[in-house]
Amino acid sequence: MSKPLLDVLNGITRNPPPVWLMRQAGRYLPEYRAVREKAGSFLNLVLTPELAAEVTLQPVRRFGFDAAILFSDILVIPHALGQHVTFAVGEGPQLDPIADRRGFERLASEVDHGMLAPIYETIRVVKRELGPEVALLGFCGAPWTVASYMIAGCGTPDQAPARLFAYGDAAAFAVLLDVLVDASAGYLVRQLQAGADAVQIFDTWAGVLSPPEFVRWCIEPTRQIVAKVRAAVPEAKIIGFPRGAGTMLPRYVQEVAIDAAGLDWTIDRAFARERIQSRVPVQGNLDPLVLVAGGSALDRAVDSVLEDFAGGPFIFNLGHGILPDTPIAHVEQMLARVRKR
Ligand code: CP3
Repeated sequence: MSKPLLDVLNGITRNPPPVWLMRQAGRYLPEYRAVREKAGSFLNLVLTPELAAEVTLQPVRRFGFDAAILFSDILVIPHALGQHVTFAVGEGPQLDPIADRRGFERLASEVDHGMLAPIYETIRVVKRELGPEVALLGFCGAPWTVASYMIAGCGTPDQAPARLFAYGDAAAFAVLLDVLVDASAGYLVRQLQAGADAVQIFDTWAGVLSPPEFVRWCIEPTRQIVAKVRAAVPEAKIIGFPRGAGTMLPRYVQEVAIDAAGLDWTIDRAFARERIQSRVPVQGNLDPLVLVAGGSALDRAVDSVLEDFAGGPFIFNLGHGILPDTPIAHVEQMLARVRKR
């Protein structure tokens, strides 16, 4: 049986389009909150294959999504490089911040894949449980976004600490990104070898970069990851999601040579259709906030996304992760509308 999501990644238009949601496993689900509590820490949840597999499968079971996304986090890479990472409930990630070149020279220059082995095991467990029509997605963070958390030590509104670091010592910043390119490529290759059907590279903070920095810190390292992954797994399918790329997105798609582009909700859809979907399948881009709002605003927003993209290769998704206060009934309403049932 074919997997609709993989059909789309191969350039086929499916109607209705396959659907999954970024951050589909998470706090808006009571069954997630129960397992999260049982696991104690977030990292323990990510690194215990039975629990991570369970929360990966929960949203697929409840909603019948066309893809499961591995339950992990982009910050397991700094963890596996030896940086101290914790996730306090409701507070977001906390890392020991990196102030200067010496700060990351204390970290390992290569990830310890032994520390990540439970994640590869999660993929094998999920793969056994998933129906034949459901795709399994792996993922990593793009080097720029991961580095921005490693340097700031926490989330910030505009990633100013990392941008200041890169302006002040571009050579050192480039060394850090090189380490992350190798680490991320090795991580994705192992996810694909363990059974992931495709992988997504999340560059959540791409949109705060000026165009020259976007080329240097977003496009170039991501291009290297894609090339390294394809050298090891030639048939690998890779989705790129440089959030906020805007008018830089066509250049990203061409130079990174990505198989599909994730679109955030701020992009002009006519532009995306003409400049992106004419070349590669697209994924997105419902505003996560309209899913919280629900009602007729949600219906109209779903229809408008479908009208603009469903005529070509398209995966229905949000324009960023689902918000924790999203009502489950709104997810059901959205799905029924996409699937016209
Ligand atoms: O369901 C899925 O999408 C798979 C799991 C997944 C998580 N994080 C689980 C998670 C994925 C794909 C991510 C990616 C991720 N993590 C990104 C890129 C995508 C994006 O949303 O921008 C980023 C920037 C991170 C870093 C991160 N992890 C932040 C900023 C936070 C705190 C904010 C928040 O949403 O709480 C996390 C924690 C995190 N990662 C949670 C989950 C379910 C919540 C932690 C909890 O349960 O207490």
